[in-house]
Amino acid sequence: MDLFPAAASVCGVGAADWRLRMSLNRAFIFLGPPGAGKGTQAKRVAQQWGLPHLSTGDMLREAVSQGSALGKIAKPIMERGELVPDDLVLKMVEERLDRKDAANGFIFDGFPRTIPQAEELDAILEGRGFGKPVVVDFVVAPDILVRRLSGRWTCSVGGEIYNVHDAPPKVPGVCDRDGGKLVQRPDDRPEVVMERLEAYERQTKPLTDFYRKLGALEQVDASLPMVDVTGALANIRQRAQGRDGRL
Ligand code: AP5
Repeated sequence: MDLFPAAASVCGVGAADWRLRMSLNRAFIFLGPPGAGKGTQAKRVAQQWGLPHLSTGDMLREAVSQGSALGKIAKPIMERGELVPDDLVLKMVEERLDRKDAANGFIFDGFPRTIPQAEELDAILEGRGFGKPVVVDFVVAPDILVRRLSGRWTCSVGGEIYNVHDAPPKVPGVCDRDGGKLVQRPDDRPEVVMERLEAYERQTKPLTDFYRKLGALEQVDASLPMVDVTGALANIRQRAQGRDGRL
């Protein structure tokens, strides 16, 4: 039975309009430690699901490379493996959400990362007509994280992510997709990696309890091969669609 026309008539809107409204406004949040594979998966599913991939790490690295005022503040903080202050990150995120492509849904990668960021995001989502987010916690053992980060190379042109151990490019140092030069992130140096993992434990891990209490938390075993993690994410999205009808 098609429930849409009945529901639409109750609300005084057309059935097509109702369907459209029900399909809008889904926020996904990919949570997890550095190296868990959030960026790799967000890039893949963003294409499949037709949603923008919003990585605060990528936005900050862009600000650093442009030498903007934000970039100048963020650069030394990121080089130490610490978190950029909440107020700066929140302002950057709000500005990004104002862009048209984020109106109907998006995938956050690396945001929120502190309780104040999560609390503020709640208010932002509510203000923009979004329902409860789908928060996916990427669970991986620390020894795997260190191996992944030490082997990561990223395309300097398109941002494609490789790994010398598990996902090497066809030609060493060259991006398969656009031929760009592959580079290592400065914060993947071993001493900075340890600080990033500590910052995650201290400031970001408490978010799993925050979102569990909200009834929004899902978990994936992110130590599995990439294709299996992508499949688990598709299942999570499908379950969420089954619960509330949004896409
Ligand atoms: P950010 O860029 O967000 O880095 P991160 O959270 O530390 O996460 P990573 O990008 O290192 O890891 P990932 O989980 O995306 O893993 P990836 O897919 O690359 O943040 C950088 C800095 O910016 C922060 O330290 C902070 O200073 C600042 N910042 C950013 N957001 C902030 C915020 N909200 N507030 C304050 N400060 C903020 O995968 C890693 C490697 O593993 C790759 O080589 C990949 O090929 C490989 N791999 C992935 N999945 C698999 C798999 N399933 N099997 C085998 N290998 C895999």
